[in-house]
Amino acid sequence: MKRRTFLKGLARLTGLGALTGLYTWQIEPFWLEFVKRDLPIQHLPAELEGLTLMQISDMHVGNRFDWHFIINSFEKARRFEPDFVVYTGDYISYKDEQQFEQLEEVLRHAVKGKLGTIGILGNHDYGIDWAQNEVAARVVQLLGQAGIQVLRNAQATIEGLNFIGFDDYWATNFHPNKVMRHYQSKQANVLLCHNPDVCDLEVWNGYQGWILSGHTHGGQCKAPFLTPPMLPVKNKRYTSGEIDLEDGRRLYINRALGHLWQVRFMVRPEITVFTLKRG
Ligand SMILES: [Fe+2]
Repeated sequence: MKRRTFLKGLARLTGLGALTGLYTWQIEPFWLEFVKRDLPIQHLPAELEGLTLMQISDMHVGNRFDWHFIINSFEKARRFEPDFVVYTGDYISYKDEQQFEQLEEVLRHAVKGKLGTIGILGNHDYGIDWAQNEVAARVVQLLGQAGIQVLRNAQATIEGLNFIGFDDYWATNFHPNKVMRHYQSKQANVLLCHNPDVCDLEVWNGYQGWILSGHTHGGQCKAPFLTPPMLPVKNKRYTSGEIDLEDGRRLYINRALGHLWQVRFMVRPEITVFTLKRG
């Protein structure tokens, strides 16, 4: 190969690399996708058929990216006028007290369901080493103040739809038995659980139906047709999207709205808009 041809090729490759880098850093992390899907639920009251349930997960408000993106996303999400909204944890990337002010500001714009708004906690809501109960308590207080009812190994029925919420698996208050011992299969249930690895534990008491999760962020970066290299779960099947657990449970993993680091490639930020169906 002639020297000039080689140098031209190298320049093109370098240019392509720089463009990909710029895209991964500045474009895709802020390129929100509204994913629309059906959510068939057994014993769903007829009046709830066709209503919308929006899932928002892993906002990660903090200093690692411009969280005005979350506020802008909420503005767009509000146009769907969802009937129910569920938040599946990791509201903050905790470093210090500043995150409480930032979260309070973001939550002023929070999307609410016309009928109800429910939240659960993720590992990041427990601060350093997922072990600071006082951080979790502040997050819960701010969520409550914003009109989001937080379920910590508890359940709440709204207009005939029962929401079951686990507290986070890696943190200090993971006691799913507290709520699952009251599990009633004849109700219309939706279960919220931040970390999908919980699906493989013996905590379900025969649960049938949907489990809505977050936590993985879909791996944030992936090559086409391959599993993302960075997944914070033991079970690498639990990447993103719908997974049939083949025992009457179905898992849906939202790809997250915020991010841990400001990089995304082929894993756009997501807000899920489910349509409730009788299943
Ligand atoms: Fe997260």
